[in-house]
Order: sequence, then structure tokens, then C-alpha cells
Amino acid sequence: MHRSFFALALASAAITPAFAQADVIGSGISPSAATHSQTRPINFAATAPTSGALVILMRNATLPANVVDAPTAQALNAAIASAKFEGKEGSSLSLRGIGNYARIVLSGVGEEGDRVTHIRNASGKAAQDLRDEGQAITITGGLNSEEAAAAALGYAMGQYRFDRYKTVDRKTPPTNPVTIISSEAGSAEALWKSRHSALAEGVSLSRDLAAEPANVIYPETFVERVRAAFGNTANVKIEVLDEPMMRKLGMGSLMGVGQGSRRPSRLMIVEYRGAGDGAPLAMVGKGITFDTGGTSLKPGAGMWEMKADMSGAASIMGAVLSLAKSKASVNVVGVAALAENMPGGNAQRPGDVVRTMSGKTIEILNTDAEGRLVMADANEYVITHKKPAALVNMATLTGAIVSALNDEYAGLFSRDDKLAAAVTAAGTATGEDVWRMPLHKNYLDDMKSDIADIKNVVEGGGPGAGLGATFVGFFVDKNVPWAHLDIAGVNWADRSGPVTPKGASGWGVQLLDTLARNWK
Ligand code: BES
Ligand code: MN
Ligand code: ZN
Repeated sequence: MHRSFFALALASAAITPAFAQADVIGSGISPSAATHSQTRPINFAATAPTSGALVILMRNATLPANVVDAPTAQALNAAIASAKFEGKEGSSLSLRGIGNYARIVLSGVGEEGDRVTHIRNASGKAAQDLRDEGQAITITGGLNSEEAAAAALGYAMGQYRFDRYKTVDRKTPPTNPVTIISSEAGSAEALWKSRHSALAEGVSLSRDLAAEPANVIYPETFVERVRAAFGNTANVKIEVLDEPMMRKLGMGSLMGVGQGSRRPSRLMIVEYRGAGDGAPLAMVGKGITFDTGGTSLKPGAGMWEMKADMSGAASIMGAVLSLAKSKASVNVVGVAALAENMPGGNAQRPGDVVRTMSGKTIEILNTDAEGRLVMADANEYVITHKKPAALVNMATLTGAIVSALNDEYAGLFSRDDKLAAAVTAAGTATGEDVWRMPLHKNYLDDMKSDIADIKNVVEGGGPGAGLGATFVGFFVDKNVPWAHLDIAGVNWADRSGPVTPKGASGWGVQLLDTLARNWK
């Protein structure tokens, strides 16, 4: 009797904690305990093996000197002539049955444009084409150290995969190494390890965060993932504001967006100081971990894409990670404005008025224009608390920018020609192209509210991307050089690009990394 009572008490003690966990979010069951499949390790060497899979990067129809032995060169030259292969950028010729090689791929880099970028791209494309190649892979083509490091970067970005949720018929992908050949192999490897590998890590972090479903990544878990990525990287300080702290600061605009969700909002601030105590470059990203539209609910078709509505925040964290891990001589502060836009019982309604941290008020006419609402408070916070030398925003802000620019360009809005030129140059250098869009003063007149300082949408539409940018700019101190990048469209690749397999693109990590290094 006594015994069985004891056993029952024990059993219920074992069960109780799970039921008592009143704060469990969602089902509480993680969809996967696995990580992604392993990718190929990247090595460098001065001489190439004479077997396996060989990728030769070609400028034109002429084989680079000394990449293969004479009989192989002869066979390749015959193939080049008969296929009329010209080495044009993006072209390739795949050959089998030459020498001891399992396969030789001639990959065009071309003679025009930026050679380093084209090498990065050709290598990224090779990584995708050779995804299932079981043999060890070699990449060659008369590469100097900078070009070899760029090839490594391209390969790392091209071989990215997001497969942690696949459990059926999951084949272990080949993980034979890829070796990049350069007469300057030592310095190429040093460059890769000290700089480019950090950039590849930043891109992967951004892609992972955006690709993860919203039952896995929400404000609190975004913070955890980013913290884990930084580990204890030197000269990095991470601050996270929770809801009571944000309420105290008067962030009614950011808090209003998250109030319909069970998942509490966060403001994550990651500061990296690699250049003493000068004013930092601030980068603030939209981090809506899911955008249902809220009370102004979106239609169902394609709504799933809104799991990536935190791409701006993700790429900013990726860029800060790259700069910090590569010990760049820059000061930056990255901010993620994190909230989930849900139509809950406590969700805000069209017509609600909120007060921002700046004191300015907003009449919310559409709860689906939520990105600008979180940006307003996040920008105010970083300007008042971090006194930045310049401020760059990155946000999947409007569908209108997708209609205007598709995924070829991000929209750039700025009141500062010098900063706009620097952002444009960084985009051109990295292949993350931007197109400058106007901020006409009439846009602000159109956004005047009848009962508050500004309304968050103009009913009936108008220049949607420009109106969104104007709204965000309304809250930014006119003395701070400010640029806003609307990345709706470029943040997700509907088809694979050279260094971007289909899916979350990690767009902006490279641009911001370059901008921070070049901005004075
Ligand atoms: N996250 C969306 C914008 C978006 C749309 C990103 C498509 C990526 C692909 C944003 O929050 C939004 O809903 N914007 C509205 C604004 C409108 C209500 C003024 C839009 O673009 O329709
Ligand atoms: Mn929205
Ligand atoms: Zn949104």
C-alpha cells in the first residue's frame, strides 16, 4: 500500500513538470535534433593531383599555363576546339575520360569585369554542379592568393545546404575535400582563414536564420542562434532588451507589432569595436520572425515566405560576425528589431495610435506595414544610445520594391549622396547590386495623419517603397547620414545563382562587410 502510493507519487512527479510548463511556446517539440549535412573541407595546395575531379577556371579558350600535363592539355585543347568553348563568364564544359581524371570541368571566368568576383562566381557554380561528385575536387587556373581565396569563398557559398529537416531517403552527401591550387597557396590559405572564411560564416548564418521556419526561429531563438555564432569572439558586446526594458524606453511602436504574439519581442544589439573608440557605423535590420500581416491579415498563398521577413536583421548579424571574426579595423553596431506579427486577441488594430521612443506618434492604418514600425524605435535607440557616424537600414519592407526591381537589385533610399555612393560601390564590388530610388518631399505630405504625427500607410497605395522609406526616414535625425535598403525580393532566390543556391540568399552580408571596411 505504502509502496504503491510512493510509486504513483514518483510517476506523477516525472510527468508534472511537462504539464506545469505553462510558458511552453508552440508544441514544445523540436522538428529536428540534427544539424545540416557536413560540407566539403576547403584546402589549398601549390600543385594539383592528376586524378579526381578537376575544375579549370578559364579566361578564354586558352588553357592557363601548367595546370595539367602535356597529354592532358592536348586532349583538352581538342575538346575546346570541337565544342567551340570560349571561356565566357558563366559558361562551362564538362568532360570525362581524359587521362586519370574522373571528370574535368572547364569553367568560364571571361576577360571582362572584375576577375576576382568572376572567379568567386565560377567556383560557386562549380560547387553546385559538383554537389554529388564522389571524387575529391581540385580547382585550378593560374590563381594568385587573392583569386584563390575568392575561389574558396565562392565554393563555400555555393556548397551551402539547408537539409536538417530531411529524414527520409537522406543520403550522406560526399564530403571529399576541395583543394584550391595556387602558386601562393600559403598566403591564399592565410587570407581565407583570416578573412574570407569569416565572411562565408556570416553568409551561412544569415541564410540559416532566414531559411528556418518560424516555429523554430522567433525573437528569443534568433537571439540564441546569433549568440552561439559569436561564441566569445573578441571585442564583441551583446545586449538584449526584453519587453519590460523596451516598455520602459517607450518603444510603443516596436512593442505594438509584437503584442499579438505569444512570442515576446526583443531588441538585439551587437557591437564590435576593432578600431578604438570612434563613432560606429550603425546597421539596423528588420527582424519580423513571421509576418502574417496581423489584424490586416495577408492572403494564404505564399504567406510562408514571410518566415524570411527577418532577413535584414539576419544579414546585419552576419556582417557583424564576419567583421568581428576577421578582426576588421572598424567599429560597428548591428541591431535586430525582433518581433512576430500575429493576429492574436491582443493584436493591434487598424486605427490604433502608438507612441514611439522618440515621442512622435503613429496612426496605424494597416497592421501589415509593420516593418517600418519596428525600424522607427530601433533606429531611435541606436541613434540616442550609440551616437553612430552613419546609419544603414536593411529591411524586407515592401512588396512594391519587388514589383519595381525584382531580385536583380535592392532598393536604396538615402538623403546623403556620399553614403549612397559608398553603399552603391560596395554593392557593385560584391555583386549585391542596389538601385537608388527617390525620396520626394511630397511623400511625407501624403503620410500626414488626421489625428497623429504620421500614418503608417497611404490608403490607395502610391509609390509604396518610397512611402515606406519616407516613413522610416521621418524618425531618423536629419544630422545622421542615413541609407535604407529595401531587400524584399533579393533576400530569397527563386532560382539558383552562381554563389546562391535556391532559397535564402544571405543578401547584404557581403555588401555590409565591404561598406564597413571602406566607409570613412
Ligand atoms: N514583409 C512585407 C513585405 C514583403 C512583401 C516582403 C513581399 C517580401 C515579399 C511587409 O511587411 C508588408 O507586408 N508590406 C506591405 C505594406 C503595405 C501594407 C503598405 C506590402 O508591401 O504590401
Ligand atoms: Mn507586413
Ligand atoms: Zn513584413
